[in-house]
Amino acid sequence: MIELLVIILAYIIGSIPFALVVGKVGYGIDIREHGSGNLGGTNTFRTLGIKAGMIVTICDILKGTLAASLPVLFGADIHPLLVGAFAVVGHVYPVFAKFRGGKAVATSGGVLLFASPILFGLMLFCFFLFLFLTKYVSLSSMLTGLVTTIYSLIYGDVPLVVAVSLLTAFVIFKHRTNIGRIINKTEPKITWLTLKKK
Ligand code: G3P
Repeated sequence: MIELLVIILAYIIGSIPFALVVGKVGYGIDIREHGSGNLGGTNTFRTLGIKAGMIVTICDILKGTLAASLPVLFGADIHPLLVGAFAVVGHVYPVFAKFRGGKAVATSGGVLLFASPILFGLMLFCFFLFLFLTKYVSLSSMLTGLVTTIYSLIYGDVPLVVAVSLLTAFVIFKHRTNIGRIINKTEPKITWLTLKKK
């Protein structure tokens, strides 16, 4: 029973749409009507600038970390990665925002931060390296997912391999419109200068 409650709580935590809350409370803006319309850190950076983008990204990461820690906090006999995955589902299909949320990146990162801080550090390094090289957040997110999958295949146990593979597949699935835009060369690039203009 406690296991079911933990899963529901993880989904509810994941459903908190921080991009929507920060946009509306802090700036009087519905972020869904701007940029890509995505309720995530990238669109917040793009629309509201560095401060709001950082707040949303960190909160979206911590949703995943908190959700993955619920089995320990509640003494529930269920794998943290499975519980964390429900927070990712909540982030992407939030009950508090008409089931239209983000693209799974930051909250997945937060789940993996709980599982392995070393892996999370590698993810951060890869993400910023790919971002420096390509200037595409979406492409950097997907490539980071693929590197994380390879790392987990080499160093991880079965639950980590399964979780990372499924989360990466989910991230790529949610970025299918971005993939189309990258191919058409219409995907917006993010640079330090574009962010500083906000
Ligand atoms: O994490 C989301 C990011 O990879 C892409 O977001 O707003 O450019 O579609 P967006």
